[in-house]
Amino acid sequence: MKFSSGTFDLDRCVSGLDRVVRVLFGAPVALRPSPAEGAAEDNLDQASRRNAAALMRVNHCGEVCAQALYRGQALASANETVTRALDKAASEENDHLAWSAERVRELDGRLSVLNPLWYAGSLALGYVAGRFGEDWNLGFLAETERQVEEHLQGHLGRLGDRDTKTRAIIEGMRREEAEHRRTAERLGACELPAGARLAMRLAARVMTTLSYRI
Ligand SMILES: [Fe+2]
Ligand SMILES: [Fe+2]
Repeated sequence: MKFSSGTFDLDRCVSGLDRVVRVLFGAPVALRPSPAEGAAEDNLDQASRRNAAALMRVNHCGEVCAQALYRGQALASANETVTRALDKAASEENDHLAWSAERVRELDGRLSVLNPLWYAGSLALGYVAGRFGEDWNLGFLAETERQVEEHLQGHLGRLGDRDTKTRAIIEGMRREEAEHRRTAERLGACELPAGARLAMRLAARVMTTLSYRI
């Protein structure tokens, strides 16, 4: 494992800061239609709506973290192929962010007040991962996506069968997270040590538990 020296690019930093403000305080706009578009709104009881809104708040929070992780990694990486892959993934994650936020609103829920905190932590984590070199950077991306896939699969199990719209969004996101993971693996992701994978799981557990509630 080698901590690379990298280069500091002011333009990328400024553009990154602009994205921070848009992710945290703007209304994200999806470039593609939501997978829920065209699906009928089921007549859910109050408890199911509250649960679905809380799960989508968790997913929205996860997408905020994804934006920060990928931006942090892209800022630290000097490899064009890798930064292109990270930018493409981050653009799709932006759609996920918009779809999740929209679904939370439709379910009369609210977004997590802790999003700025998660963003800051994830940006720092992504930057550090990026400075360890491309294979570790990609390994971190692949492991993140793997854990998100599992987490989204778990959400499908916790949702009612009748919530067609929420399910469509989660399934759409899960398919793309799997593609992000495969891209990272194709580009040469290394497998992270068990301790790092466990630390990521614990951090995700804290984030998902808190953002389900606040
Ligand atoms: Fe995503
Ligand atoms: Fe992803």
